[in-house]
Amino acid sequence: MEIKPIRKAVFPVAGLGTRFLPATKAIPKEMLPIVDRPLIQYAVDEAREAGIEQMIFVTGRGKSAIEDHFDIAYELEKTMSERGKDLSVLEPTRLGPGNCAYVRQQEPLGLGHAIWCARDIVGDEPFAIFLPDEFMHGSPGCMKQMVEEYRTIGGNMISVLEIPHDKVSSYGVIRPGQSEGAVTEVLGLVEKPKVEDAPSNLIISGRYILQPEVMRVLEGQGKGAGGEIQLTDAMAQMIGKQAFHAVTFDGNRYDCGSKVGYIEANLAVALERPDMADEVRAIAINLLK
Ligand code: G1P
Repeated sequence: MEIKPIRKAVFPVAGLGTRFLPATKAIPKEMLPIVDRPLIQYAVDEAREAGIEQMIFVTGRGKSAIEDHFDIAYELEKTMSERGKDLSVLEPTRLGPGNCAYVRQQEPLGLGHAIWCARDIVGDEPFAIFLPDEFMHGSPGCMKQMVEEYRTIGGNMISVLEIPHDKVSSYGVIRPGQSEGAVTEVLGLVEKPKVEDAPSNLIISGRYILQPEVMRVLEGQGKGAGGEIQLTDAMAQMIGKQAFHAVTFDGNRYDCGSKVGYIEANLAVALERPDMADEVRAIAINLLK
């Protein structure tokens, strides 16, 4: 089978972000910054690095800050240039009309439903999915590492990572087959299993490369874990019909859907930034005394 390149990425960003209230009452959780860059920007940068050209955002009410973020900010840019300020900091925020599309998920019916909302824009080609809460930090980025494997094996691919067994019930979990290097065959998938039913402690960590057929499966997909239409359930249907592999990311993952993970990510990035690392390290040492 021909291996088509991954040109499009879907970013499901319609979630309410209740875990971060009141911070996320009026701003989308995806706009929360890690140091000075919103989470969604990191995900888009990761997609670009992997050669992806079109970003498809599945948004909802109250999420228009994301559209503004990736648009031209005429007044801001004009004022900044008049004052002789460097505009390069805004460079990554520019997504031209050919490079982005927005579609609304009108009801919170689950991740599978969110992805299905993008079916017409995705069309008949393989595509990537990024869950921006999962902050995958490394170089090359997680999607680039996946795309490199995809180029030779094709099919469907998810990023996975190992977590303590007692935590698996919050995630999608794989039943692993044979491994070679970073790539593991996926024999089964289950969303939010009970600890005792989990087939492994390898969880789906928010990056996917999927074949367009998954949209047909989602079409008829009933509700799964938590009463939601689950992407994991649709993917599970593809196993055996199409190649399905997991890639273990060589880098760090921070769960920015949780407050502690979010603080950890901020600290980790700050400690790597040449413009602030020394100061932040000194502050952290002082606070820990
Ligand atoms: C979603 C997916 C799950 C995955 C997780 C990663 O769950 O359904 O398979 O492991 O993201 O964060 P959610 O966090 O939306 O409950």
